[in-house]
Amino acid sequence: MFATMGALGLAPTAQAAQHEEPFRALRASDFTLTGRSAAKVVVLGGGIAGLTTAYELGKAGYDCMVLEARDRTGGRNFTVRGGDSTTDLYGNRQTARFAEGHYMNAGPARIPQWMVTLDYCRELGVPVEVFTNVNADAYLFNESAGMTKPVRYRTAKADVYGYVSELLAKATNKGALDKELTADDQERLVDFLQDWGALGDKLTYEGGERRGYSAVPAAAGTPGVLLGDLPTASQVFASGVGRYFSFEFGFDQAMLMFQPVGGMDQIPRALTRAVGAHRIRTGAAVGKITDKGSGVTVTYTQGGRTKVVEADYCVAAMPPNILAKIPHNLGSGVQSALEAITPSSAAKIGLEYRSRWWELDHNIYGGITETDQDVVHIWHPSYGFHGERGIMIGYYNYGDDADSYAKLAPKEREKRAVAAGVKIYGEKYRTELVSSFSHHWRQTPHLEAAWHDTPGGPDAPRYKPLNEPSGRVHFAGDWLSYTDAWQHGAFTSARKAVTAVHTRVLSD
Ligand code: PHE
Repeated sequence: MFATMGALGLAPTAQAAQHEEPFRALRASDFTLTGRSAAKVVVLGGGIAGLTTAYELGKAGYDCMVLEARDRTGGRNFTVRGGDSTTDLYGNRQTARFAEGHYMNAGPARIPQWMVTLDYCRELGVPVEVFTNVNADAYLFNESAGMTKPVRYRTAKADVYGYVSELLAKATNKGALDKELTADDQERLVDFLQDWGALGDKLTYEGGERRGYSAVPAAAGTPGVLLGDLPTASQVFASGVGRYFSFEFGFDQAMLMFQPVGGMDQIPRALTRAVGAHRIRTGAAVGKITDKGSGVTVTYTQGGRTKVVEADYCVAAMPPNILAKIPHNLGSGVQSALEAITPSSAAKIGLEYRSRWWELDHNIYGGITETDQDVVHIWHPSYGFHGERGIMIGYYNYGDDADSYAKLAPKEREKRAVAAGVKIYGEKYRTELVSSFSHHWRQTPHLEAAWHDTPGGPDAPRYKPLNEPSGRVHFAGDWLSYTDAWQHGAFTSARKAVTAVHTRVLSD
């Protein structure tokens, strides 16, 4: 058994702390000469973690059945297109009216290059394209700081970098860093600041082309007109624009980022095809989980009828807040761990426009406008450039902002979001609008969360009962990973559960 675990990368080794073992995909040949064979596994939840569990186990011939409560697979990976309908827990029913070829990714929408999500796109043949997460031409808008019109990222960055550089260069030259740096290092620092902040010969920031132009440079005779009104350092810091710059430094948010061509749900669609529709029951809500020691019994309701499935193993890949409501005999440790993980809110509204006025009038192609409004983030679409129509994300917000919009009827959500957008972009934000669709994860049946808060992190002792099997029930989901709220967490957690199940089957 130890040798098998070693082969699968589960046995501890000297390098384990530094080098985490890569996932090794299962193969049917793993069973050759072992006298053992693939088992039957019931997978609870047809989101990314559940589908991946069935997909990876299927590579070694496991007989999987996926139970999914909603009428489609994908879980929080949900792409909304014209004709799609939802009903939230308040009873608001919406049908998207988006034109052919247009969509909004209501859940995951951006993929960093280091995440295994891109490896699955490659393996499954899902084409990807760049998702613009940061755009120098997008806007920043802090109304509470007295801004009456938005400022471009490039302008805000030029001013903040410029004045910070000027101040640090001056402080350095006054000897403020004499204890920290040698004279040579101070000279190098000042050289850097001069370049970084575009400082003049006197080490002062005087604006310049980085801020942008009111008339762009063109043919001879038209050198361009620089943006006027260089604010003072005091005005720049008072505007608070600098607080948006660190977002792109995050390991998980740095450009380049990617999205599947045609919508994020190309991923669960491809997984669903690879698993096989005959192995997936949709509209199947789990009612009870019983570990019997030698196997697992799961009851579920489908079309008003209660059904039973017996399996050798179970992988529970449902949201913890939903799992916590399902009767089981997995012990109080499992239950209290599930209850310690709390659901979080997030929401988006898609605003469909009859013209791409943000490209035509503002020269903004993709990227995000950051605001201090309750809409928080406004996204420009990273597909369909120069097309006739387009869908903006009018709000992507979390927590109380998301919940307060959820309490409104969909038309009122639209009105409030549009009023915020008009302050930034002007009247076309209202007059060009043709339809909208809003989605609130905390109010979505069978999910009731956008993501989860796991106090102490997934390896805190209280979650031990979820990180190891309870009898023959294993757990998987982004909420059991260090990248919750990312598909990467669901993929890697599923891989861990798959490896653990396979190791048991090979050594039982
Ligand atoms: N993955 C989600 C997003 O990119 C949620 C998230 C936001 C996760 C920020 C971590 C940091 O919007």
